[in-house]
Amino acid sequence: MEQYIVKGGNSLVGEVEISGAKNAALAILAASIMTDDTVTIENVPDVSDIRVLTQAIESIGAVVEHPQRHVYTINGSQILDLPVDNELIRSIRGSYYMIGALLGKHKNAQVALPGGCAIGLRPIDQHLKGFKALGAEVRVKPSGIVVATAKNLHGAHIYMDLVSVGATINVMMAASLAKGITIIENAAKEPHVVDLANFLNSMGARIRGAGTDVIRIKGVERLHGTEYAIIPDQIEAGTYMFAAAATRGDVTITNVIPKHMESISAKLKEIGCQISESDDAIRVVATGRLQPTNVKTMPYPGFPTDMQPQVVVLLGLSNGTSIVTEGVFENRFRYVDELMKMGAKVTVEGRTAIIDGQDAYTPATMSAPDLRAGAALVIAALSADGISKIDNIHYVERGYEDFPEKLRAIGGEIIKTASKEEESSALRRLNLKAIS
Ligand code: UD1
Repeated sequence: MEQYIVKGGNSLVGEVEISGAKNAALAILAASIMTDDTVTIENVPDVSDIRVLTQAIESIGAVVEHPQRHVYTINGSQILDLPVDNELIRSIRGSYYMIGALLGKHKNAQVALPGGCAIGLRPIDQHLKGFKALGAEVRVKPSGIVVATAKNLHGAHIYMDLVSVGATINVMMAASLAKGITIIENAAKEPHVVDLANFLNSMGARIRGAGTDVIRIKGVERLHGTEYAIIPDQIEAGTYMFAAAATRGDVTITNVIPKHMESISAKLKEIGCQISESDDAIRVVATGRLQPTNVKTMPYPGFPTDMQPQVVVLLGLSNGTSIVTEGVFENRFRYVDELMKMGAKVTVEGRTAIIDGQDAYTPATMSAPDLRAGAALVIAALSADGISKIDNIHYVERGYEDFPEKLRAIGGEIIKTASKEEESSALRRLNLKAIS
């Protein structure tokens, strides 16, 4: 089984360049099939979720080319009336964007229900409610395939019962090719909602208000080809900022949009780090003891739920007691048992974690329970003096491009191994380095 072997204890120092945003790329790649023209997308991260989605798009007849590592061209003119379904597509959350894209373009979608990280129930009732309001008939087959069909889609006034990134994006896609005006109230405001709106507008859609609570979409007859570059990944950037803090490092994160990082930068300042920003970079310097604080995860512009495990790891190294409340998902503390193997003192009660900070973690062998928690365990391991092992790293590779390579470039000692022999050789290399 693949694992990371981490020899912690070094302060991370240097520069890390952030890749394109995974969650924006998933939505934008799905939306690329909504025109018969060719679409070129740049700054697509090279992570496994993206490979799964592009294979799914190809499997229903789109022509997908991948001329360079971060560039895809997609032509959806020959899409066939086939279900989007295989074992892999059921494993990623972003597959549900194929429903909005296919329903908008062909007025017919059959897509296997989404999987993704097991961090709560994650229903898609708000997506389905939105499609129905646009005039679609929607049912879920016992096999787990969502079938959405419509003679015609028409604009509608939709009030989301809760703030959902996925439902906002899905409805925006379908409504772009509906007749008339759609208004989404209580819309999600995440940077990738705005990125998808900008992308669709560059294809001729007429979407206004993305980034606010109310999004207004005037349906158009057809969309046309475009060339578009994805925004940088807010959560990847935040993860490296927290890795810098946990290792008392000095790291400059480049290719970021500092505005998207405000809630994360503000928390790091409360925790005692120095943060400086330029147009597209943020430097994090951490010296001395970290301070405790309280955090509640919220939809954007609040502190992101996808940074919750990382902030718990960091506060476990602070000088006092902190409370972290999960405000988005109902079951996002499963990784705490793993972190406690490193000696973390965390008590979970429902959606709240109480963290008693301490000087340092002790190395341990752990298992990544999901994508972001996996990255957080790596941060904990990087901070702990000695050798830790983390398995189930396929979760981490769903969303972090070149994670070990980028960490090594700033002084992290982390090696990915795929067999017992590779593990022994990695341990020899890390131990030899320690002696010399
Ligand atoms: C997206 C992100 C994920 C991130 C999350 C919140 C992708 C592929 N994933 O997930 O990384 O953690 O946003 O920022 O972009 N809900 C319902 N009914 C629905 C939809 C959602 O009850 O129809 C609930 C969810 O269970 C959750 C909350 O609403 O408790 C927010 O979910 P949502 O914003 O939809 O998250 P995702 O789009 O699944």
